[in-house]
Amino acid sequence: MSNENCKPTTTDGGIPVASDEHSLTVGPDGPIVLHDHYLIEQMANFNRERIPERQPHAKGSGAFGFFQVTEDVSEYTKAAVFQPGVKTDTLMRFSTVAGERGSPDTWRDPRGFSIKFYTSEGNYDMVGNNTPVFFIRDPMKFQHFIRSQKRRADNGLRDHDMQWDFWTLSPESAHQVAWLMGDRGIPKNWRHMNGYSSHTYMWVNAKGERYWVKYHFKTDQGQRFPHSRGSRT
Ligand code: HEM
Repeated sequence: MSNENCKPTTTDGGIPVASDEHSLTVGPDGPIVLHDHYLIEQMANFNRERIPERQPHAKGSGAFGFFQVTEDVSEYTKAAVFQPGVKTDTLMRFSTVAGERGSPDTWRDPRGFSIKFYTSEGNYDMVGNNTPVFFIRDPMKFQHFIRSQKRRADNGLRDHDMQWDFWTLSPESAHQVAWLMGDRGIPKNWRHMNGYSSHTYMWVNAKGERYWVKYHFKTDQGQRFPHSRGSRT
């Protein structure tokens, strides 16, 4: 069988390579040489092909949808995406927060969601959680907060003392800890939970007046939790 019609393997620069099975050697059985550019390129790509896992919100899944304005809020904002009747395509990613990829959904953890609105004025991105409050106020604490829930480097296990040390030494977290440890702490799925911006956003109307808003996304299906009434249906 002839290989003449096959497209050749190329380097990243598009140059055909002599072989993708044999390194360049000094003679048929000689030593492999370091100036075999393609061999070095193969190893360099291989060593870097894993994308590091993001720290918070590593595990998630997404869905396309749309956002349609059904009331008139133009008194508060001039943004095209919020004008009466406007329908905007969206992409939404739902996520757990502390767990790594492959972690169980049954770990007690808030859920996050990020929305990309493809508006006529450009893309508008925002994030939210299924809780209207948050653990901390100061971003300086965020890294310690997330690490306190991650697996330890020495034994690969999560450490409840580490997690509770952070919370008890950060009293501003108490409100959200109460949410997390209550019935609402684990939503049944992405569809049966509310979403909240938590952050306050500034809206500006056509007269240049400013208003402060929080986004609340209320599920049409009602909120459900793994052990709540009707959650098996
Ligand atoms: C001190 C406050 C906060 C800090 C410093 C912080 C920081 C971060 C960081 C570093 C990421 C990962 C980004 C990446 O790797 O690409 C992230 C993701 C995320 N955060 Fe926060 N965060 C904070 C508060 C919040 C709050 C209050 C919410 C919700 C109301 C939120 C919702 C999210 C969501 C949904 C994602 C995942 C985004 C996606 O799906 O792409 N975060 N945050």
